[in-house]
Amino acid sequence: MTDRKALIINCSPVKTGATAEIVNIINNEISPRYDTKCICIADYTFEFCKGCRTCHGTAKCVMNDDVIKIIDEFDRADVIISVSPSYWADIPGQYKAFIDRCTPWCDTHEPHASIREGKKGYSVALRTGPGMHECERIIQNIEHFYGHLHIECSGHLGLTSIEYKENVKQRKPEIIEFCRDI
Ligand SMILES: Cc1cc2nc3c(=O)[nH]c(=O)nc-3n(C[C@H](O)[C@H](O)[C@H](O)COP(=O)(O)O)c2cc1C
Repeated sequence: MTDRKALIINCSPVKTGATAEIVNIINNEISPRYDTKCICIADYTFEFCKGCRTCHGTAKCVMNDDVIKIIDEFDRADVIISVSPSYWADIPGQYKAFIDRCTPWCDTHEPHASIREGKKGYSVALRTGPGMHECERIIQNIEHFYGHLHIECSGHLGLTSIEYKENVKQRKPEIIEFCRDI
């Protein structure tokens, strides 16, 4: 057993769907090499960013809610894996709302809060439609977020033609292959 920690995030509000199934496969694959923790964005309660920009001057949000709990999980982890379905060709609103609330930790203004340096970030995007462009957009958005928190973008996987968890089984070899590099 290693003490390197991996955080695997279900970015979907569905706790038992296709995204959760992929999270489970990744967890099974990497748990011999990492101390893993799986979380679902739907298990946390937080407000939308108000866009007040107070954090640009204070490095702190004016709100105090579960965003801090998620950021604590990010801080503890050495590796972060975001698994996101496409909802209207983008990240589900719940995960996007979390990203917006991470503005106190964003490196584009001073002062800003920081999580521990040296983390590696991975992204998995899935969708029902057949084209990869939507997955690429989601991956780009997650990697944009990682970059501003100094999480090194280290790999990604796009999975098309997945609607329900039953569709994930036949994609298991691709997911296992992706996990080899984590
Ligand atoms: C509200 C909503 C919007 C969706 N929008 C898209 C879309 O724009 N493109 C697409 O390919 N799939 C779309 N899907 C399908 C999901 O990406 C797909 O079913 C995925 O497997 C859902 O995973 P989940 O059940 O774990 O959330 C949408 C699903 C929902 C519920």
